[in-house]
Amino acid sequence: MFTKVNSCANIGLNCELVEVETDQMKTDQFAFLIVGLPDAAIQEAKERVRLALRNSGFRGLGYKTVVNLAPADLHKEGPGFDLPIAVSILQTTEQLDLIDLKDSLFVGELALNGETRHTSGILPIAIFTKEHGYKNLYIPETNAAEAALISEINIFPVKNLFQLIAHLKKIESIEPLKNSGMFHSELAPTFSADMAHVHGQEQAKRALEIAAAGCHNVLMSGPPGSGKTLLARTIPSILPPMQEEEILEVTKIYSVAGLLPKDRPIITNRPFRSPHHTSSGVALVGGGKMPKPGEISLAHRGILFLDEFPEFPRPVLENLRQPLEDGVISISRAQGTLTFPARFTLIASQNPCPCGYATDTEKRCTCTPMQILKYQKKVSGPIIDRIDLHIEVPRVNFEKLQGGAPAEPSGVIRERISRVHDIQRKRFKDSGIKYNAEMRPQDIKQFCQVDQASLDLLRNAVSQLHLSARSYHRILKLGRTIADLENCDNIQSRHIAEALQYRPKEN
Ligand SMILES: Nc1ncnc2c1ncn2[C@@H]1O[C@H](COP(=O)(O)OP(=O)(O)O)[C@@H](O)[C@H]1O
Ligand SMILES: [Mg+2]
Repeated sequence: MFTKVNSCANIGLNCELVEVETDQMKTDQFAFLIVGLPDAAIQEAKERVRLALRNSGFRGLGYKTVVNLAPADLHKEGPGFDLPIAVSILQTTEQLDLIDLKDSLFVGELALNGETRHTSGILPIAIFTKEHGYKNLYIPETNAAEAALISEINIFPVKNLFQLIAHLKKIESIEPLKNSGMFHSELAPTFSADMAHVHGQEQAKRALEIAAAGCHNVLMSGPPGSGKTLLARTIPSILPPMQEEEILEVTKIYSVAGLLPKDRPIITNRPFRSPHHTSSGVALVGGGKMPKPGEISLAHRGILFLDEFPEFPRPVLENLRQPLEDGVISISRAQGTLTFPARFTLIASQNPCPCGYATDTEKRCTCTPMQILKYQKKVSGPIIDRIDLHIEVPRVNFEKLQGGAPAEPSGVIRERISRVHDIQRKRFKDSGIKYNAEMRPQDIKQFCQVDQASLDLLRNAVSQLHLSARSYHRILKLGRTIADLENCDNIQSRHIAEALQYRPKEN
């Protein structure tokens, strides 16, 4: 008997409906086929489902059974089709009545004993279920909390196949989940490092505050041991929490990457990712045969910290150009192009030369001018051009290290940044962008009006520093954030002057 059960496939962060069709033919020989561009994990579903059915007390397949995953031209991957295939087979073999399942979606991996297993990418599927008007979503019990972020659909946490069939036969129902309300966490976030622990480095701290306030990119340069890594690690403690929309965006990415924490499957703190310089291009930007998000997407709405920046292979860094500009990464593959969001703030750090002491006031640099030049050329011009704040992190002297006035704690700085985030939320309401660094030319025109004194400053800077049009726009955006930190509606010449200070020094 022909039967059809709905399921869903993750395509990047999006989803597509997959109809699982099953039928049987009376032949002498037993056969079980899955067709419709399945990957290896789905082919293995044959064995998992057969044994899961048997171990849950159901009859075997008999005859020749064909499962078709439609549409046939869509590449499908992963073990999430086990559950719908099992339900469809039970209907075909008349072990489950032909009840109406057209309002329901089934997704989940099965273990050989019939129990369900955690499956990645469930949050986007729950969103799909709601947006496309389906009423019921059946998923593994361990994914329940993640799906429960989405309200207005019935989410059924399934423990095992036997329990699901008992529910569908109306013998014993599974209780649908309530919306978890997890967005509103009472848990105060804890941070491993606090700005108060960093002595001196006032200029670097100021730059990082501006960066966090408007999501601008930073490059820190200084001798070894001056505190660059320490400073970067304090950034999470000055970042305000994400808004509900951002939480959903980020949690979706982690769901598809299979990286949601099991105990609390929601990402509420802004991500801080610090991949090592030996990471591959695919690990950094994403990809693979069935593309998965890379570090830059896992850092979406948070920080991507690239320590020892020039040590990253140049081709790997060049991949950052498009995401640094557009906030997305497009990955081409045979079946078309996939995009993942990648709107991160880049924090990079470097030594000024191979030995590290070219700019140091105390220790002598042992590099030749040629070596220094070669080292500084490791990062290409287009990447340097996309970084708004270039800061020197000098050696801290003994007096400052030993004590001095207590430094400002992160909580106080976070309050100030939070106010600037509020200003930006009002400014960009309904405009499709969120932070100053994301402003497009039309937004710059509208929100970055400057006075005559600032114009004169900018005119001089453009001609003397040979600024590109991109740098010019980036200075205006940075000026906007500096003015916002002062709660000034208009950008004034002192704001532009400070923004100009952060341009890279000409060699
Ligand atoms: N400004 C500072 N205040 C307090 N401790 C510091 C400071 N700078 C460096 N340190 C100490 O030195 C260690 C090394 O600093 P680190 O950030 O790794 O240097 P870098 O990355 O610049 O080579 C830190 O873990 C910290 O203990
Ligand atoms: Mg370091």
